[in-house]
Amino acid sequence: MIVAIDGPAASGKGTVARALAAHFRLPHLDTGLLYRAVGAEVLARGLDFSDVPALTRLAAALKVEGLDAEALRAGAVGEAASRVAAIPEVRQALIELQRAFARQPGGAVLDGRDIGTVIAPEAEVKIFVTATPEARAARRFAELTARGEEVTPQSVLDDILKRDQRDSSRSAAPLVRADDAVLLDNTALDKHESIARALAIAAARTGRQ
Ligand code: DC
Repeated sequence: MIVAIDGPAASGKGTVARALAAHFRLPHLDTGLLYRAVGAEVLARGLDFSDVPALTRLAAALKVEGLDAEALRAGAVGEAASRVAAIPEVRQALIELQRAFARQPGGAVLDGRDIGTVIAPEAEVKIFVTATPEARAARRFAELTARGEEVTPQSVLDDILKRDQRDSSRSAAPLVRADDAVLLDNTALDKHESIARALAIAAARTGRQ
């Protein structure tokens, strides 16, 4: 069974994906980490974001194992990830590894922006997790300040709006809800309610409790 969870930055899609993976005992891949890993390397090596061949080589060399989720969640890395994710060659270099993960025996849970539309259009369960930009910014603000980053609520909201705009307007695999994805707007829900709603959607789609 393939479970595709998509949605904008800080929508809580990772929380929902991890909970579904634990519930159904499936492996989970946070595909944002792949773009974050490329973005982090671009920053670390001082590469130019317009150097498409170099960025594509970085993407082609990536493996799903050993990604340092904690380090890759830094605010600056998210911005860099959004920029590299708009490059079609970089996306192309990351497609096969994501598809192989999705199609492993028994299935998998993947979360990102284009899982239900491009990576695994055949997924049995597709959920589009979203919330208002203000609600997402408040969550990201709490997360970043807990990491010790110096941000203001306004700078975080500006960053979220900029990433929404870039992720949704790019020509290569833009962030859109798949026609057959169920919308889960969790603006007014807490984490537990959001997970409960996602489990109910998965159960309704698959008959598996
Ligand atoms: O979900 P996230 O914030 O970790 O994602 C970081 C960036 O990577 C995001 O701005 C868009 C991009 N991304 C993407 O384009 N496609 C995916 N499947 C996952 C992430």
